[in-house]
Amino acid sequence: MNKSTNQSIKPITTKINKEGNLEIGGCDLTELANKYSTPLYVIDEITLRTICKEYKKAFKEYEKVNMMYASKAFMSTAIAKIINSEGFGFDAVSGGEIYTVYKAGIDMSKVLFNGNNKSYDELELALELGVGRFSVDNFFELALLNEIAKNKNKKVSILLRITPGIECHTHEYIQTGHLDSKFGFDLTQIPEAMELIQEQYTNLIPRGFHAHIGSQIFETKIYEDEVELLIKEMALIKDKFGIIFDEVNIGGGLGVKYTNEEYPPSVFEIGKLIIKTLNKALKKYSLKPPVLYLEPGRSIISTAGVTLYTVGSSKQVPHGTKYWAVDGGMADNPRPSMYQAKYKAQVANKPCDENLQKVTIAGKFCESGDILIKDINLPELEEGDVLCIFNTGAYNYSMASNYNRFQKPAAVLVNNSQSDIIINRETLDDLISHDVIPNRLD
Ligand code: LLP
Repeated sequence: MNKSTNQSIKPITTKINKEGNLEIGGCDLTELANKYSTPLYVIDEITLRTICKEYKKAFKEYEKVNMMYASKAFMSTAIAKIINSEGFGFDAVSGGEIYTVYKAGIDMSKVLFNGNNKSYDELELALELGVGRFSVDNFFELALLNEIAKNKNKKVSILLRITPGIECHTHEYIQTGHLDSKFGFDLTQIPEAMELIQEQYTNLIPRGFHAHIGSQIFETKIYEDEVELLIKEMALIKDKFGIIFDEVNIGGGLGVKYTNEEYPPSVFEIGKLIIKTLNKALKKYSLKPPVLYLEPGRSIISTAGVTLYTVGSSKQVPHGTKYWAVDGGMADNPRPSMYQAKYKAQVANKPCDENLQKVTIAGKFCESGDILIKDINLPELEEGDVLCIFNTGAYNYSMASNYNRFQKPAAVLVNNSQSDIIINRETLDDLISHDVIPNRLD
């Protein structure tokens, strides 16, 4: 089976250049660190476009596929433009993500709005901007969306999000398909939801089901289970309500390779399996092929991204750990402290140095848990070295915070030896731009 880009730890353009430095997208990482300062998110356009194309190829045997990039993994107007140009739509989960797609000038009918507690304002904004699909999560939202649609005299196409009761073996916080989850309708609640739609919520047009089983998934079997279950549920809807669902959304979740010990399946393997299972189940229940929606996030953007840091202070615990601190940490990458996530790194200005030592890379934030990488073998570090942590494209910038009143880093896009800012570094004035001093304090 062909390999795919999510199975690589580093961006596919990563090289060691003539100067002996690491380069990505033809750009020397030490030069990028100098030019744009650090911490710096670097996104390799070729890696990003390659995985998008691989997804398309992996599912091309199934004629009706809507690829929807899960914006929560990393969203900016430039990223939206690239993903759109690769023929993907967008899974958005907030007014902010929807607005970003809109400001990028993208056809809003290609957006699907997900989320378990969409607000009145967000639903209204989505309807006004012409968002194409709404994945409805619960009874409250059925009523709310119907009311807003009715006020606006609109009919809205919806998917019903269900909790499939499938557990995947990923970190507990990123499982979503198990029965005791906050997301979606329990299967036993579907008949009631359908009755309400048919009888009361007539501004809603039910088009299909939506499920998402979790994130950083390595097991292929659970996709089989999910597809079988969704098609079986579609058959039940046809029998009980005479309604033929013509769309099915199986969510995202495909894993990536953060470390040498992780072996995520390729998109080609997943694609083949999903199409085979889908066709078999459709035959079994005598159903016509629905439009298949996929919502990959991490596997699209993770490998394309790296983060550059400058090495600063160090501490040798007597008879213990050697810490080296970098100029970022849990505010630009909260994943190690939230999910015990592991990363690989190299020193961009001496990637070939073989005199390795075991060190722990700490961040600069005021928490003991602010450790980016525990126990990694790296060349002897010095203040000023540029550390490159791989596979940080997903859920780093999008989960970044201003903890300790630190400015969020910039992001640059690299391709063909060119680098372009796609997100400016926050300034000190940005940090206080929302602060207000009431008059009485003057
Ligand atoms: N669709 C739905 C409904 C989702 O909830 C998610 C992710 C996706 C698609 C995209 O899943 P992906 O392909 O990225 O695995 N912050 C965590 C990950 C949370 C994922 C939340 N939902 C992390 O850093 O690992």
